[in-house]
Parts: sequence; structure tokens; C-alpha cells
Amino acid sequence: MLICVPDVLSKSDVANFRHVMDASDWEDGRSTAGAQSALVKNNEQLPPNSDVARKLGNHVISALTSNPRFVSAAIPLHIFPPLFNRYVASNGHRFGIHVDNAIRGDHQTGMRIRTDLSVTLFLSEPEEYDGGELVVEDNYGSHEVKLSAGSLVLYPASSLHMVTPVTRGARVASFFWIQSMVRDPHARTMIYDLDTAIQGLVARLGRDDPETVKLTGIYHNLIRYWAEV
Ligand code: NI
Repeated sequence: MLICVPDVLSKSDVANFRHVMDASDWEDGRSTAGAQSALVKNNEQLPPNSDVARKLGNHVISALTSNPRFVSAAIPLHIFPPLFNRYVASNGHRFGIHVDNAIRGDHQTGMRIRTDLSVTLFLSEPEEYDGGELVVEDNYGSHEVKLSAGSLVLYPASSLHMVTPVTRGARVASFFWIQSMVRDPHARTMIYDLDTAIQGLVARLGRDDPETVKLTGIYHNLIRYWAEV
């Protein structure tokens, strides 16, 4: 399931990010690609261990962990240090169909995670560029995603996906992976759907409605049943 989380970063945060990123040095994006994806990857990224990438990445992580919709959808155990990429039309940048590596290690922190979820956080407005859609394939077909700057999409890291060629302007984004406390995507989706329904009931009936309290208990008991921490 694809889940979009709007406005993770404010427009002023995005402007600050872009200001810092535009003044930074970029490198070939293949430095973090796996063997298969390196064959089809053509973009640029901020050097993963650079001060700029780490500082912006920490800002992204604090925005994520204070966003209830993100936490509800991802149930994150580990968040990989965010990376930052750029697809420039004049360079013919694109990223062909590929699957992300199952395990990602970060040299600087020693973190090693199982990639359950992939995340793209858009840092360009859709009007700034043509092409550059994230296309995610699942059993229901192909899904094209292009969100406003500051918004993100979560999708299963197990899915085949690509970024179509950028034909005008530049597409700037952050991307990273999450190991969820709930490994099974079906279980995670049911927990998310239940939480969403409970939040709707809370808004209508209040947090102390007896049935809402009971459902909240079921929500936590399902997490207790499925979570690995
Ligand atoms: Ni990928």
C-alpha cells in the first residue's frame, strides 16, 4: 500500500533545505546503489556522509517522529539516515525500474536495517519540473506519485519502482528506508486502518467513549502481538 503524508516539512523548511542544497557539492548517485540498480540509476546526490546531508537528515527525522500520520503508517523501529538526490533535465537524469536492497548499512553510525518501507520526501514543487514521477508497481498495477514539496510517500521497499526521466527543470528529493516494528505489510496496513478509524471515532465521540476505549485497547494489543522491538 502507498501512503502519502502531507506537509511533513513546512514551505519555509523546504526553502531552507533548497538554499543549503543548492550551494552544496553533488556526486554521482550510483555511490549508494546496489549492483542491479547501479545499472539503471542516473542522478546526483549529496555525499551521504557530508555534514550537510547529516544535518538536513536529522531535521527530516525529527519532523517525521513528531508526525502522527507517519508514525501510525510506518510504526518505525529504525529510520535510515536520509539521503538527498537530484534529477536534472539537462543531464537526462532518470532511475530505471529496480528493487531496493533488502539490507542497508550506514558506515558512519554502524546502523544496519532491514528495508521494510521506502520513503520519498519531495523537495521540489510539481510545477518546477516535468517528468520525474515515482512509479511504484504492485499487484494492482502501476502507481505514479508526484507530491508537493514537503510531502512524502511511503511504499513497500519490496516493490519494483522507478523515477521517470525529468524533461524540464530539476526534481529534488530526500529518500530513505525504514525498518518497521511490524514486519508483515498486511498486519501493518490493518493496524494503520484501525488507527485511522479510531481517530475518526475519537473526533466524533470523544476519547472516553467506551467503545472507542475498547478499540484503542485492541489497537495496542495488535501491536503487542505483532511488533518486534
Ligand atoms: Ni529505489
